[in-house]
Amino acid sequence: MSFTLPDLPYAHDALQPFMSKETLEYHHDKHHLAYVTNGNNAIKGTEFEGKSLEEIVKGSHGKNPAVFNNAGQHYNHLHFWKWMKPNGGGKIPGALEKAIVDSFGSVGKFKEDFVAAGVGQFGSGWAWLEVKDGKLAVSKTPNGESPLVHGATPILGVDVWEHSYYIDYRNRRPDYLKAFLESLVNWDYVAERFDAAAK
Ligand SMILES: [Fe+2]
Repeated sequence: MSFTLPDLPYAHDALQPFMSKETLEYHHDKHHLAYVTNGNNAIKGTEFEGKSLEEIVKGSHGKNPAVFNNAGQHYNHLHFWKWMKPNGGGKIPGALEKAIVDSFGSVGKFKEDFVAAGVGQFGSGWAWLEVKDGKLAVSKTPNGESPLVHGATPILGVDVWEHSYYIDYRNRRPDYLKAFLESLVNWDYVAERFDAAAK
């Protein structure tokens, strides 16, 4: 099955002022599209043809960088668009909030750890909230990697490549991460992935 670029689940200007129309026009319409196109080209004629996206991401990690980098970023961005929504942030659904408090001590401590992971990722990459061995944890990965290749399930991720924030925040990555948590996160989608990972 070849990769296709999904439409954004909202209008390009729907996340303003926290993420601009211009950022989404570049990030979704050009950067994500390039991962789709380059991924499809890299997969042609390889063992990965006909496999599911998750199988391709896991199977190509450490073996085929051209396939992995594009498939990994396609996987990450498919979810990233759904991890945000207009008027996001706010109250975390009950069961997920309880699991966060159990794992981190408080919602505030989780947010502190998540921002620190995003700020601490040197260069391009992602910060994550993941489920591993039935427990919640915060992690960070370089480039197109995700918790998927480290035996975990990502339930929330934030893109800290400069293409995700430089137009709106310039070099202020911490401000972007705080705005992401407070005003953009679609906690219903995070809770949906948490429920699926916990089963
Ligand atoms: Fe990105």
